[in-house]
Amino acid sequence: MEGTGLMRETLVEGAEMSRRGTGTVSTDPASVSTEAFVEAMRVQATAVNLVTSDGPGGKTGVTVSAMASVSAEPPLILACVNRRSPSVAAIRRNGVFCINALSAEQDGLADTFAGRPSSGVPFDFRAARWTTLETGSPVLVDAVANLDCVIHEMVEAGSHTIFIGRVVRAQHRQVKPLVYCDRVYGAPGPLSR
Ligand SMILES: Cc1cc2nc3c(=O)[nH]c(=O)nc-3n(C[C@H](O)[C@H](O)[C@H](O)COP(=O)(O)O)c2cc1C
Repeated sequence: MEGTGLMRETLVEGAEMSRRGTGTVSTDPASVSTEAFVEAMRVQATAVNLVTSDGPGGKTGVTVSAMASVSAEPPLILACVNRRSPSVAAIRRNGVFCINALSAEQDGLADTFAGRPSSGVPFDFRAARWTTLETGSPVLVDAVANLDCVIHEMVEAGSHTIFIGRVVRAQHRQVKPLVYCDRVYGAPGPLSR
């Protein structure tokens, strides 16, 4: 707790110095370039998910790496989807979505639902087997995990809509997840030390 207090003081002092023009800390620095941002994100490993939805807004699916757990009580999860994607309007209208975490065997599906399949039709649900759980959103069979959600909150942030979902059903399998790093798909393994 003491440490936190010290950190706050230091930051506030920094902000004061900046306002007075006597320090080097700025409270409102310019954004980093898009290139620098993308490069710093590119080298990080992420899981790969299909965010799917069905209902009055239509059936939709999109590949998303920007997914994170938000809260365990209540169980909340988030996914960030570019507003250029037709999925945004569909998910918003349907009020529900499912996060399907892909297994290492499902890299082809990641490309299908990113609109760049090596064969077949982009965004084609016939490329995999599906079921449903609670919300009616497509639930991918053989995924690492399926998290069926109702929309808890939506936040507009830059180019993306952040969908925060309350998880109403969850299931998982003990298989290797698909990871994406440096624009290449892979699978995690233990370090050989
Ligand atoms: C591995 C991977 C991760 C992606 N992660 C996201 C993401 O987190 N959010 C997002 O909006 N788009 C993400 N995309 C891009 C969308 O899947 C893609 O732009 C979308 O399907 C629309 O395709 P289009 O630009 O061909 O219409 C990702 C793509 C790939 C291949």
